[in-house]
Amino acid sequence: MSTHLETAIEAATAAGTVLRRKFRQAREVHSKGWRDIVTDADFAAQKAVLDILTTRFPRHLILSEEGQHNLDLSAPQPTWVIDPLDGTTNYARQFPAFCVSIALIHKGVLRVGVIHEPLRRETFYAEKGRGAFLKIGRDAPRRLHVSALTDFGNALIGVDWPRDPVLRQQAVEASGRVVAQCRTVRALGSAALGLAYTAAGWLDGYYHLSLQPWDMAAGALLVLEAGGTVTRPDGGAWQLADKQIVASNGLQHQKLLTALQL
Ligand code: 2AM
Ligand code: CA
Repeated sequence: MSTHLETAIEAATAAGTVLRRKFRQAREVHSKGWRDIVTDADFAAQKAVLDILTTRFPRHLILSEEGQHNLDLSAPQPTWVIDPLDGTTNYARQFPAFCVSIALIHKGVLRVGVIHEPLRRETFYAEKGRGAFLKIGRDAPRRLHVSALTDFGNALIGVDWPRDPVLRQQAVEASGRVVAQCRTVRALGSAALGLAYTAAGWLDGYYHLSLQPWDMAAGALLVLEAGGTVTRPDGGAWQLADKQIVASNGLQHQKLLTALQL
């Protein structure tokens, strides 16, 4: 395991400990925009991540949801892409589906991805070219593979809803077509978890029509390293600057794209 990956796991776990401790406490909730909130826990988790990453890698760049928002994919230095709390709406309501997401990108290539779910102590991690893994608590890590399901009629697909009303309506209509054809569709409220669960084979696919780089970076690398496929909804090559993503076990990909009709 590289030092970068080891440190990302350490930072995600530290933030996860903060989130787990604060989970049952009263929340300070502030509005960032329409249907968009931030809590004291987002900032506390972000501090836990940055304290570790900026000390260990002082020259690296940072793109973090509650901090700096510049993403220069051509920068000569590696950039950490961080969501200290993905699933803030869930977290604020004590709905137990949220995580910490940390990725490292260098010259446009995703190198490292870590998604940590603190309540279940699950750490999903991947390194470019070295596969994807899941470590639960102190257990030995195990290699992750996307599901082997070929029959779209039995597929379990994840989605989450855009905040913007026009995009939300588009997602609802596309989801109507998907849910009519697959086994069922779940909305977890955390895009990073939806992608991690696709990498683990717990979901057969996941899509979202309005995301930010920190929601997708680690999860996209996990899906790819677990043998899955990641594209834009039109089937084109996906990049971190895209706002939309469709991920699957590969075997379902064309069927999912066709059902979405986007
Ligand atoms: P967040 O919890 O960090 O805000 C829910 O739809 C999932 O999508 C969450 O992972 C949420 O991240 C993410 N998300 C990011 N941008 C979004 C947007 N514009 N609309 C809806 N969800 C968004
Ligand atoms: Ca967040």
